[in-house]
Amino acid sequence: MLFTILAAPSMPPLLPLPTSVKWGDGAVQFSANSKVVTTDKSQKAEAAKITELLNLKQTGPATGTIRLVKDAGIKDPEGYRLSVGLDGITIRASAPAGYYYGAQTLKQLLPAAQFSTGAKATDVQLATVEIEDAPRFKWRGLMLDTARHFMQKGEIYRFIDLMAMHKLNSFHWHLTDDQGWRIEIKKYPKLTEIGSKRKETMLGRYSDGKYDGTPHGGFYSQQDIRDVVKYAADRHINVVPEIEMPGHAQAAIAAYPELGNLGTQIEVGTKWGVFENVFNPEEKTVSFLQDVLTEVLDLFPSKFIHIGGDECPKTQWKASPRAQALIKERGLKNEDELQSWFIRRMDKWLEKKGRRLIGWDEILEGGLAPGAAVMSWRGMAGGIEAAKEGHDVVMSPTDFAYFDYYQAPAASEPLAIGGYLPLEKVYSFEPVPASLTPEEAKHILGGQANLWTEYIPSARKAQYMMFPRASAMAEVLWSPKSERNWAGFQVRLPKHLDRLQSAGVNFRKLDAGR
Ligand code: ACM
Repeated sequence: MLFTILAAPSMPPLLPLPTSVKWGDGAVQFSANSKVVTTDKSQKAEAAKITELLNLKQTGPATGTIRLVKDAGIKDPEGYRLSVGLDGITIRASAPAGYYYGAQTLKQLLPAAQFSTGAKATDVQLATVEIEDAPRFKWRGLMLDTARHFMQKGEIYRFIDLMAMHKLNSFHWHLTDDQGWRIEIKKYPKLTEIGSKRKETMLGRYSDGKYDGTPHGGFYSQQDIRDVVKYAADRHINVVPEIEMPGHAQAAIAAYPELGNLGTQIEVGTKWGVFENVFNPEEKTVSFLQDVLTEVLDLFPSKFIHIGGDECPKTQWKASPRAQALIKERGLKNEDELQSWFIRRMDKWLEKKGRRLIGWDEILEGGLAPGAAVMSWRGMAGGIEAAKEGHDVVMSPTDFAYFDYYQAPAASEPLAIGGYLPLEKVYSFEPVPASLTPEEAKHILGGQANLWTEYIPSARKAQYMMFPRASAMAEVLWSPKSERNWAGFQVRLPKHLDRLQSAGVNFRKLDAGR
């Protein structure tokens, strides 16, 4: 006698973990030739994206369906319900992002090989399941520094794909710094003609004091920027540009020395660290930067515009008779208030344009403009202070969110800037401090991991520093706090890494014994 034993379809690990997952005991066929079926016009664009995301065939008659059903009862526009049932596959949502995230989850039910480029869908048995899901936080961010090392547009696209796979929705693009100005500004061509190139780069450890003797450069044309913004928007990712001021400005001052305090020609930075060459506080410098931002606003629809504001040494302002005269003229007490004056000017201007300013937590020093939001990086204290004052906050403290730090003991790792941030620590990050009242806690928009690239010269190394820590951060920012569990994450992670492996990501392998 012959018995046919049907293998039970697997229950693949989902990451980030949804709000609720209820596996059934049935199985349904997923067909490579499924058609994404819509009932209303607003779903059309999403249906095309989902067809592509799931590598569906679209030749010959469809042999399965994935239904998109509008459900106004799903309050969060990023929320969805995914049903894999005996009556087929359905994604319910109230807005396009919800359908898209439902499809990202559905893709995780398919074999890991589906994550490779050029993969074609295959027929496969799926376990029945009912999933309800919505994000914990609105701001689920990753920052990439393309100033210290330039990355090609195609590499940025891959990075965005990986964000989308992890349901991260805010790409903070660090575009200007001492060592390079990377965004084309038509009114001031020297910003890129001069400011995007440095003659050489520090080699090895800072303390070695060595240089590579090789010019480094690159910038994004305005068309490149539009392409990236569109590519991200198609994946429900908002791009937040960062234009640094009044510090981290040496590349801009190299291009236009009149923006500095010394009036002398300086060069684009070649070493790492915090430089004393900062913008002068003249009215015409403010106008220059507002001209720059005018072009930036035209390229980036983001409500939030990041103006940096961190690490601005006051040495040159203290020594400059002109800066001192301006402090008096403007009725300010000191250089901290001058920095604050600068930020407030930008804040008012952005507000008039219908946007909002966000900056690193130093913008709190000397008083913060009412509408401004704070990105807390020097621990959580700045974020706590800001939230108590009624400002919106994104938490990205070095201790939990700086992915340029070592993820394992330094001796066994490629050179990094320093610090120590292993995966488990990332996973333990809690963006909402216990010291806030529920009302104050509403100001915590979410969190963000930052990848500064002083010691990261390639996209491959960026991926190594990013993953799997970004997978842990994605779960921190998406999943309910009550569902988060390090042991459970460790069980799910290896199969998730199979997906990253298929996608060709150079992630850091787990330590043996994990
Ligand atoms: C920063 O890391 N300087 C924001």
